[in-house]
Amino acid sequence: MLLIKKIHKWLSLLVGLQLLIWLGTGLYFNAMDPLAASGNQYRVSVTEPKAELSKLIEPKQVLQDFKGAVSLTQISLLAKPYYLLTQKKALYPYFDNDYTLVDAVTGKQTVVDETMAKSLASASYKGPGEIVSAVKQGPPFDDRLKEKNILWRIDFDDEINTRVYLDAGSGRLAAHTNDDRRIVDIAFMLHFMDYAEERSFNNVQIIVFAVFTLFFAFTGLIWTVELGFNGKYTLASLFGGRFAKAKKIKIYDKHAKSLGKLAMSSHENLLDSLINHDIALPSTCGGGGTCGRCKIKVTSKVKMTSADKSQLTEQELEQGYRLACQHNSDELEQLTLVDVTKAASHKLQLISSEFISPYIKELRFKSVGGERLKFKAGAFMRFFIPAAQGSSIPVDLPAALQHHWQEVLRMDYEHLACSRNYSLANGDGQTDELVFTVKIQTPPHAKFKPGIGSSYICNLALGKTIEAVGPFEEFFAMGSDNKDSTSPMVLIGAGSGMAPLKALIEEQLIKLNSLRPIHFYFGARTQADLIYRDTFKQLAATFPNFSYIPVLSRTTSAEDNTWDGAKGYVQDHLARDLDTEFESSLDKAEFYLCGPSAMMSSTIELLKSKQVDESHIAFDDFA
Ligand code: FES
Repeated sequence: MLLIKKIHKWLSLLVGLQLLIWLGTGLYFNAMDPLAASGNQYRVSVTEPKAELSKLIEPKQVLQDFKGAVSLTQISLLAKPYYLLTQKKALYPYFDNDYTLVDAVTGKQTVVDETMAKSLASASYKGPGEIVSAVKQGPPFDDRLKEKNILWRIDFDDEINTRVYLDAGSGRLAAHTNDDRRIVDIAFMLHFMDYAEERSFNNVQIIVFAVFTLFFAFTGLIWTVELGFNGKYTLASLFGGRFAKAKKIKIYDKHAKSLGKLAMSSHENLLDSLINHDIALPSTCGGGGTCGRCKIKVTSKVKMTSADKSQLTEQELEQGYRLACQHNSDELEQLTLVDVTKAASHKLQLISSEFISPYIKELRFKSVGGERLKFKAGAFMRFFIPAAQGSSIPVDLPAALQHHWQEVLRMDYEHLACSRNYSLANGDGQTDELVFTVKIQTPPHAKFKPGIGSSYICNLALGKTIEAVGPFEEFFAMGSDNKDSTSPMVLIGAGSGMAPLKALIEEQLIKLNSLRPIHFYFGARTQADLIYRDTFKQLAATFPNFSYIPVLSRTTSAEDNTWDGAKGYVQDHLARDLDTEFESSLDKAEFYLCGPSAMMSSTIELLKSKQVDESHIAFDDFA
């Protein structure tokens, strides 16, 4: 499909350019002066006097003297009678003909020489110019493309550079042309795509262009059908939800108690529709159909999607369980809520937006209306990103970071509305602000858009608001309120997976004054990517039970001299410490993971290989 889209785009450029040429030249043809376009502004019609036939020699005699003629015509040139013998006659005068001009009085052959050519040209010319050159030449001619005979070219020095062509064999006035006529010829060439100047409508270029246009239409049709199958041409999507139906759906709680009827739009999935009624289902994938958390019960008749099949068991599917994010109100009459969170909708206002690494921003929001949200450290919020235009390069990129973005392709794009989850980097009680660390996802390839959610939210202007629902408490400290716990906490993170881990650490050390051992392994590529480095160094200096182990995976040669910390991957350093430092406390240790999926899966495998109980492993899968 990508190839079809690419072909369609390039063909659209080609067809669009030719349409512009047709439009421009068509307008020119309509506006041009017909006399100027003909090239005949200074041409006069020459009327020759009739010859006195009694003074002419017999045509029979001429035909005997000049063998091979297929026709004989009596003509007058410059008021003098001639016989024009045609040895080779073509369909048009400008095709290849062969003439002999004979003086009709003496019977001698006459050659159209320079003097005669100039006289003939002057006789057909009424302009103010003088002859500046006379040249006898054969085809091809720049401005007489169809002409196949040898011609005299007589140039005049008037303001429009008039040029007169005369047939060198017959003295025939072939054409007047000038600058105006030459412009018309160029316009004709462009209009009829006659780039090889064949003077034909049926040229190769037009035939090839017609085939391209056919492909353009065909690829466009395929693309349109694909968009249609993807639901892009519903009335709702075409008219911004104006035609979406609001249907009343009966809602039941998990004990089969009726909660009444709720109007739900057919334009939204059930996950989002329920949010509009302050019913927040759990979700860690933001409606992507990959977390399986937004389970509801409908009836087994509701069609299963591939996401339903991959996230729910066969038994659940048979019992009528479906993912709320994959269905809308059109498909059902009632639904049963299986699990509901305490999350609610909030309008958040951006109060601070700062780069804390080349690709990560720290965003601070406040709830509009000033209410203070309560949540456990490690919670996340789901942001509703509206349909908008995006750009792959941040609008407020500081000059000091620009070299990091040099390789990133600049692209402007449009995106539809969607939702995205972002973890809070602070815990409840630290401040009334909501802090997020968001990594701007750059496009992995020119064919892909950058991260829609991260680009939108990181380009949001200060003071702007955005809708969000939450906080969702899916990832938090085990026995989170137990400040007397002595179980070691081991936190492993990388990239923007920092946010919930930072919140957990600050909750333990600052809010709960916990004395339990806390070890934080954080992986980054280079020192520039080690976000909050000073904060953690300060915490490590203040709290003896806290250790911070930053690990760099791609140190530059310059950094090798200034970095004496760990290098490689965080999971490798953790593996080493599991066998030494944590060996005696491994059965009690709690592990908290957040970062790229590759790091998470290899860390989970490592922990399992060390017989760490699964209930001691918590992870925030933001991928
Ligand atoms: S929200 Fe994750 S599967 Fe529906």
